[in-house]
Amino acid sequence: MFSRDEVQLPGGIATPALVVDLDAFEGNVARMAAAARAGGFALRPHGKTHKSADVAARQLAAGAIGLSVATLGEAEAFARAGVDDLFIAYPLWLDDGKAGRLRLLAETVALRVGVDSAEAARRLGAAVRGSARPVEALVEVDCGCRRTGVQPAAAGAVAAAAAGAGLAVAGVFTFPGHGYGHDPAARERAARDEERALAEAVDALARHGLEARVVSGGSTPTAGQWRPGVVGELRPGVYVFNDAIQLGIGTCGPEDLALAAAATVVSVPAPDRFVLDAGSKVLGADRSPWVDGHGYLPMFPGATVTGLWEHHAVVRLPAGVRGPGLGAVVTVAPNHVCSAVNLVDELLAVRRGAVVERWPVSARGANA
Ligand SMILES: Cc1ncc(COP(=O)(O)O)c(C=O)c1O
Repeated sequence: MFSRDEVQLPGGIATPALVVDLDAFEGNVARMAAAARAGGFALRPHGKTHKSADVAARQLAAGAIGLSVATLGEAEAFARAGVDDLFIAYPLWLDDGKAGRLRLLAETVALRVGVDSAEAARRLGAAVRGSARPVEALVEVDCGCRRTGVQPAAAGAVAAAAAGAGLAVAGVFTFPGHGYGHDPAARERAARDEERALAEAVDALARHGLEARVVSGGSTPTAGQWRPGVVGELRPGVYVFNDAIQLGIGTCGPEDLALAAAATVVSVPAPDRFVLDAGSKVLGADRSPWVDGHGYLPMFPGATVTGLWEHHAVVRLPAGVRGPGLGAVVTVAPNHVCSAVNLVDELLAVRRGAVVERWPVSARGANA
């Protein structure tokens, strides 16, 4: 996207700004939808990546059955925007305030919530007791990421607690986050770990007389490793834009980068170095073991963002490469797109050198 000899950036953008290359974006949306369809999977993309009702509308139009979200606030924002089928893929711990909000939300949309403890399930059950629409619980299991989730064999006990608390237990979910990394074989292994863990969890529920209708997994790196069988629903998020981390680990090419910060060269202190007006307040501060520096410049593929301040990105050029002059506008794909999107009010959707739409980041900052 926006490489030296490809799509041109529109003039007149007040930088720094996050721009979306519509052609690349539409390709990403269509390819993931087609991959899910081909494998017979339901697609429930993760909305935390884009936090945008406009992006969600396009994913749903391409065949997604609903959205996954990470927080109650994101769920509320997407519900306000008209998305009526939401899965909070997170083990929510409800205090009184959140319990009240969840109950209200459950009256307006089809809602699923993750649980990974009997205690949280009981709180959830108490929060939505008597609600007109049932809230469904999905038990989270750990398939190797070692973040949240119970061991698969323990999923039955959590599910039984959820059912005992009056919740409708819909099934199980996991996140194969250990598939991130340079080694393609690790992605394969993570996808197989996911299948094994979910199959074991399904059996664990059955031993408690509970049927797992929903078996949900997926991430962007494990896309392409999916096999029909155990998993029924997939929740990739980052694929919609991709980012420097996905490029670094090899799950996308430069042509699949659909979002970047448009940034102006504000200083050229040395022939091998230039400074952009996009700092951590627009690129995000995520570092990664899989990428050098703080972002990827499609126009200068060999360059490295060696320094990042709030309002400065310092870019080093490889020997012999001529850099842009003062005032030039270049693009930088952030390391982690989900964090960058959360820093701006709107995304500028660009096609053939013109801004054709402005997408508000509707769920920006909805972290609670
Ligand atoms: C629970 C859960 N599901 C799905 C995803 C989406 O995966 P990815 O970010 O690799 O697209 C994430 C990302 O962190 C997640 O935490």
